Amino acid sequence: MENPPAMRSGWASRLGFILAAAGSAIGLGNIWKFPYIAGKNGGGAFVLVYLVCIVLLGLPIMVAELLVGRSGQRDAVGSFVALEGRRSPWRMVGWGSVVAAFLLLAFYSVVAGWSFDYVVKAASGALHRGSPEHVSQLFRQLTASPGRVLWWQGVFILATVGIVLGGIRGGIERWSKILMPGLFALLMALFLHAMFSAGGPQALRFMFEPDFSQLTSRSLLEALGHAFFTLSLGAGVMITYGSYLDPEADLFGLSMRIALLDTLVALLASLTIFSVVFSAGMPIGGGPGLVFETLPILFMQLPFGQLLAVVFFLLLAFAALTSGISMLEVVVAYVIDECRWPRLRATAFVGAASFVLGIPCALSFNLWSDRQLLPGRTVFQTFDLFVSSYMLPLGGLLVALYVGWVWSRDQEREALAHLRHNAAMFKVWHVLVRYLAPAAVILVLLNEAGLFA
Ligand code: PFF
Ligand code: NA
Repeated sequence: MENPPAMRSGWASRLGFILAAAGSAIGLGNIWKFPYIAGKNGGGAFVLVYLVCIVLLGLPIMVAELLVGRSGQRDAVGSFVALEGRRSPWRMVGWGSVVAAFLLLAFYSVVAGWSFDYVVKAASGALHRGSPEHVSQLFRQLTASPGRVLWWQGVFILATVGIVLGGIRGGIERWSKILMPGLFALLMALFLHAMFSAGGPQALRFMFEPDFSQLTSRSLLEALGHAFFTLSLGAGVMITYGSYLDPEADLFGLSMRIALLDTLVALLASLTIFSVVFSAGMPIGGGPGLVFETLPILFMQLPFGQLLAVVFFLLLAFAALTSGISMLEVVVAYVIDECRWPRLRATAFVGAASFVLGIPCALSFNLWSDRQLLPGRTVFQTFDLFVSSYMLPLGGLLVALYVGWVWSRDQEREALAHLRHNAAMFKVWHVLVRYLAPAAVILVLLNEAGLFA
């Protein structure tokens, strides 16, 4: 084992860390993706499986990732090197997560860019006129325009670069403290309104009445993959953010708060969106356009609707931003710690590279909509499948195996000793991280690879 690095300066406060980590977790995954995959998979039963995945797999792996970062005190690769030595194969897990974070930023920024465009649409009043068909048409017009999509994608990446340049305290933490509370307040207001609309009760039933006949093995994989995606696991975020934590931090408590906030936002957003869908008689399986095509209709019916629409899409953009900065920070921390580049150069370089990689993802919705990277899948869909369904679960699995099996051989591990203060919690966590989480992920990955077909 190499000498453990000196503790580095990090978060100014626990609350700052929670908001930044919750900021990473809460993003398009909650407000854009979760509602539409829940819709596609028939609601209740899928939601239940998803919640089980969060508690039994997501939470223990989040604790494991934070633990690796806090003990290694470096970026996702460097932490494994600091803990296991330069030649240890475990550093490949770090590399895998850095690559995942980089690929993720390339396609995440496309959808994040759409939400920026919607801020402008809402402000101009364009969303405030016409029928549901008209609103859907606006969405198709946007995605069909390569220039507009690329422009907003570029704006989004520039904004993440701007924040990450400020570093942990002055950039990420400071902005998360402004953006996240705003998001909660507005979402709460929209949710309350939606619940009292005609579609409210039906939305509640759709989300919470499980109908297991709707579940397929595909939906199991999707629920598991999304549990990783939504908690920002498997891409080195929690390792990197954990590396800026102090040794006294209570990782169980912090993880639970992050997962709780994330789940709350996903459920509130879905209920809000489905009550609009049911009120307006729109199809539930609306797909990727769901939030862009349904929420404008809610806003049209509200007093001050235009203002609320501006604020909502601004906050959706902000939620995407706090997630985007975490992806960028994973790669930037790696370049700073391992290549010894100054933060400015590292951030500018990684930002520019991810924009270039993002171009084919943006074109997947228009010029290249016929080009397939995998059979039947555009570049965007291939990236999404590859990263969200394989890389993130695999990355999380390996961290679980590492902490659950490699560390446990060594009873003297100081980091584990600290967790043992909470004896009951430690026992449950240890079993989950050692047996259940790896077994579940392996089963689902094998199933996906067609082993049980
Ligand atoms: N958790 C984010 C969301 O739900 O939108 C997405 C994400 C961020 C995934 C960062 C992975 C990651 F490393
Ligand atoms: Na999320």
